[in-house]
Amino acid sequence: MTMGRLDGKVALITGGARGQGEAAARLFVAEGARVVIADINDLDGKKLAADLGESAVYQHLDVSDEAGWDAAIERTVSEFGPPTVLVNNAGILHFSELGKTTLADYERVIRVNQIGAFLGMRSVVEPMTGAGGGSIVNVSSVEGLAGMPFLVAYTASKFAIRGMTKVAALELGAKNIRVNSVHPGAIDTPMVAAAAGGQKVDMSWVGKKVALGRVGQPEDIAKLVLFLASDESSYSTGAEFVADGGATA
Ligand code: NAI
Repeated sequence: MTMGRLDGKVALITGGARGQGEAAARLFVAEGARVVIADINDLDGKKLAADLGESAVYQHLDVSDEAGWDAAIERTVSEFGPPTVLVNNAGILHFSELGKTTLADYERVIRVNQIGAFLGMRSVVEPMTGAGGGSIVNVSSVEGLAGMPFLVAYTASKFAIRGMTKVAALELGAKNIRVNSVHPGAIDTPMVAAAAGGQKVDMSWVGKKVALGRVGQPEDIAKLVLFLASDESSYSTGAEFVADGGATA
């Protein structure tokens, strides 16, 4: 039997039902992890868990719901044991001009992207410490490194994730918990299609702006998340990992 790169790990992946979270869930199971797919998209989440077999379960979780996190951690512990990997991947996008962004729009994005990641990190500190350590991977964006017009709330939330990652890394290093942020460029996922009103988006223009000449695929990011979740990244914490095909080079 071949060794998996995540053998023995218990991973909770938020927003795991589709897009980059789904790609990570599939790769994690293939590499020997047991995975809790946590999402609000029950239909796709349950389908994916069934597809992945006994190494995966689906848990309904709105990442902005504090009590929901307690339930998700309890479920993880009872199914597989304490989480040793957390991927804070759930996120939403809202395009609008600064002058036309409503408070409700701004707060909605901050609640999911920023508060969701905070609650996730806070929830795993105790069980991960009890398990002897672990790895937290926070999905930010290239918009967490530089501003982007029409994305004021999203950009703010992604900068916040980058900052929170560093604080958590500094505090949790002594507990053998590593915390890193991932900064994808343009990735071809349903999020991008949804932002365009459900249309299939022609992303060929993106390829023209990146060194590698193509838009990213969810699997490109999943491979980086796998590295950070695994012991291969044992001396990396508080660090920013960019995967944008060279768009910000
Ligand atoms: P997606 O929209 O395809 O998938 C996101 C998943 O999160 C969905 O399954 C959705 O149901 C779930 N979700 C949304 N709100 C939630 C909530 N309140 N609680 C729990 N789950 C929730 O998006 P994609 O592209 O896979 O994005 C994943 C992450 O990557 C996000 O944090 C996004 O901001 C980030 N990202 C995406 C980029 C892209 O170009 N697609 C670029 C850079 C970062």
